[in-house]
Amino acid sequence: MLIIDSVAALRETVRGWRLKELSVAFVPTMGNLHEGHLHLVREAKRLADRVVVSVFVNPTQFSPGEDFDAYPRTPAADAEKLRGVATDLLFMPSAGELYPAGLGATTFVEVPVLSDELCGRFRPGHFRGVATIVCKLFNLVQPDVALFGEKDYQQLLIIRRMAADLDFPVRIHAVPTVREASGLALSSRNTYLTTEQKEQAALLYRCLCRAAEAIRRGELDFERIERQQIETLQAAGFRPDYFSVRRETDLAPAGPEDSCLVILAAAWLGKARLIDNVRLTRE
Ligand code: PAJ
Repeated sequence: MLIIDSVAALRETVRGWRLKELSVAFVPTMGNLHEGHLHLVREAKRLADRVVVSVFVNPTQFSPGEDFDAYPRTPAADAEKLRGVATDLLFMPSAGELYPAGLGATTFVEVPVLSDELCGRFRPGHFRGVATIVCKLFNLVQPDVALFGEKDYQQLLIIRRMAADLDFPVRIHAVPTVREASGLALSSRNTYLTTEQKEQAALLYRCLCRAAEAIRRGELDFERIERQQIETLQAAGFRPDYFSVRRETDLAPAGPEDSCLVILAAAWLGKARLIDNVRLTRE
């Protein structure tokens, strides 16, 4: 596995592969890798001749006061895990390498409407930072296919929209959420939870599943379902940001006429902001 920290060396390596007509899959991450990330890499191996993984804690997607400084950074362990799943190239740039002009003067990519709702309402500027860094990484890696987890469902739709609107010649491949046996979605931020909180945290997924079951049984008052689950979470010590039934395709609020739905939730538990979602199709 090549470990590269410069844009020039990355471009050079990818150009060499292209000359040999090798296809390239790309998995962008912020590191502190877990099974969820590794699942994306294994899937990437199936889809292309070469796999590039980036590990970069992107400053532009954190608002002031968020956990940019505290975000877990484990580069040596990450490299080891990536070797174990036969990654071809690990790109680990510094912030200066990717934002040479500094953060104040950089160009941004915005995906309106989709970015304004749900997590976007609680984390202003977050998706602008995500779209910008993914756009930059797509330009550097020029992948045939890029893989994203369904765990960050809103992010996945935003990247799809950006790739379509800006004509990136890349296929966006979605990968199902990898969970603990308890149902808790794996996340780098789970390291902020105490052992006891980690057990409690699985309630978020259970609430999503309960809401999905209620809708499958024919319940049509989505707002009532949302209120009920928010109360359940609050009673268990969570501080929910939102719990919302949406249309799967565009995240618009769902009505009784919609059949392809996604239920999304974000809630704080101790120091961790947990997000998760489940999709369902109504008969
Ligand atoms: P990060 O949170 O490190 O996640 C990297 C990728 O792994 C994302 O596509 C995310 O959806 C996926 N992922 C995380 N947990 C997962 C799980 N339990 N199951 C399946 N996939 C999972 O998302 C980001 O980084 C950043 O915003 C990034 C896209 C890299 C831009 O900076």
